[in-house]
Amino acid sequence: LTASLVIDPAFVVGPVRRRTFGSFVEHLGRCVYTGIHDPEHPSADEDGFRGDVLDLVKELGTGTVRYPGGNFVSGYRWEDGVGPREQRPSRLDLAWHSTDPNTVGVDEFMRWAKKADVEPMMAVNLGTRGVQEALDILEYCNVAGGTHLSDQRRANGAEEPYGIKMWCLGNEMDGPWQIGHKTAHEYGRLATETARAMRMIDPDLELVVCGSSSSAMPTFGAWEATVLEEAYEYVDYVSAHAYYSEKDGDLASFLASAVDMDHFIDSVSATADAVRAAKKLTKRIHISFDEWNVWYQHRAESRPPTGDDWPVAPVLLEDRYNVADAVVVGNLLISLLRHTDRVHSASLAQLVNVIAPIMTEPGGRAWRQTTFHPFALTSEHAKGDVLQVAVDAPTLETEKFGEVSALDAVATRDPETGAVAIFAVNRSTTETLTLTVDVRSLGDVQVVGAQTLSNPDHTWAASADDATSVLPVENGTAAVSDGVVTVELPAVSWSVVRLG
Ligand code: AHR
Repeated sequence: LTASLVIDPAFVVGPVRRRTFGSFVEHLGRCVYTGIHDPEHPSADEDGFRGDVLDLVKELGTGTVRYPGGNFVSGYRWEDGVGPREQRPSRLDLAWHSTDPNTVGVDEFMRWAKKADVEPMMAVNLGTRGVQEALDILEYCNVAGGTHLSDQRRANGAEEPYGIKMWCLGNEMDGPWQIGHKTAHEYGRLATETARAMRMIDPDLELVVCGSSSSAMPTFGAWEATVLEEAYEYVDYVSAHAYYSEKDGDLASFLASAVDMDHFIDSVSATADAVRAAKKLTKRIHISFDEWNVWYQHRAESRPPTGDDWPVAPVLLEDRYNVADAVVVGNLLISLLRHTDRVHSASLAQLVNVIAPIMTEPGGRAWRQTTFHPFALTSEHAKGDVLQVAVDAPTLETEKFGEVSALDAVATRDPETGAVAIFAVNRSTTETLTLTVDVRSLGDVQVVGAQTLSNPDHTWAASADDATSVLPVENGTAAVSDGVVTVELPAVSWSVVRLG
């Protein structure tokens, strides 16, 4: 197969945003307990946070981290998790049929976020709770002092306010599984009143209203329209959530998952713009794609405990990712970058142990899944502006999406340094793709580096014992001549080619 791209620095989609490289820490399974927090671990610091995990979070290049849920937040009482540890209650977590000891709460998370050098993104409970409790946690976190809850924070050791900017108004309220699930109208009203009141404390907050939990929801589209008809003036973002997996051995459709993400983003943008037009407003609502990943939801490890079993930090959603999963994760990031004019924030769900790029053994090793690598390399090398790319590529037939392009790609360019990164996926399951990139408009550039993640066995998955056999390797075929870059992309592969 052959394909070609043209890139030109004149065609800028928008800036590369640190927030596109966000992730997510939920009180779910072993994400918090024995994930980021494990006081018994040899690398644990004075707060009980694993140093090896903090190092991996930094290596991953994480921007924002959403907390504390997820489905969990819809039953959460944030005040259970602050103050002296010995007085904190253990509670049933109905979302994941577990017990939360509340050892980690808002103050611990904020200390961890500072150490990890990530921006926090806080979610409030609009399932079992409402306006008052949202105001309470906002006062606790962001008011400088001199009030009951802000002074409580100071007494708990945080003299300075946290100044958290981004707040999610609940989680997946469209989903019948959600505690306190609501109709679009009920939720739209509650989100609006919560947002309006929160802005009375701080008008500059950035607020995310819940969109659909997947584009396959029967209410998709209508939900966004109804919620935004209520909330448009009071919020900045509408959320989008999407999980993908290979089903019934249909690798070709799975590799084209980003086609669905593109469509999802375009549909939510169109819906938001229709509400904008009807309301005769100029303000635009952007998308917070605050849950996305590969997730094999039908597998046994995704089923919570049942009956009288309410364990603390059970093994849940601990998917093991293979090479094809990593290629799809890389391709989904290409889709998010391509839409940087509309997607202003995104969170890989999740960060540690739970459908995560980083895995830990309690008290033991921490290791990188295959999906870690395309995320870390994209976060490291996508700098400056996202450029439009003109793609000319053969198509492949898929059962789910019909004809799709064999190549998906995006490019970024740092106007300060002139550094260019081209991110490309070959979706063919069998054929190598020879890619040529017309870079004449960039002037005299050289290939600075090229890395490819692939393996003849696309089902190879990393483990604690072997997380390094299939790392991205230097792609020696990348070369530039007469303003044209040529590179060979193996079947089922993700690559980054860097020019400078
Ligand atoms: O990320 C796992 C779960 O997926 C989250 O708790 C929920 O919001 C979504 O359904």
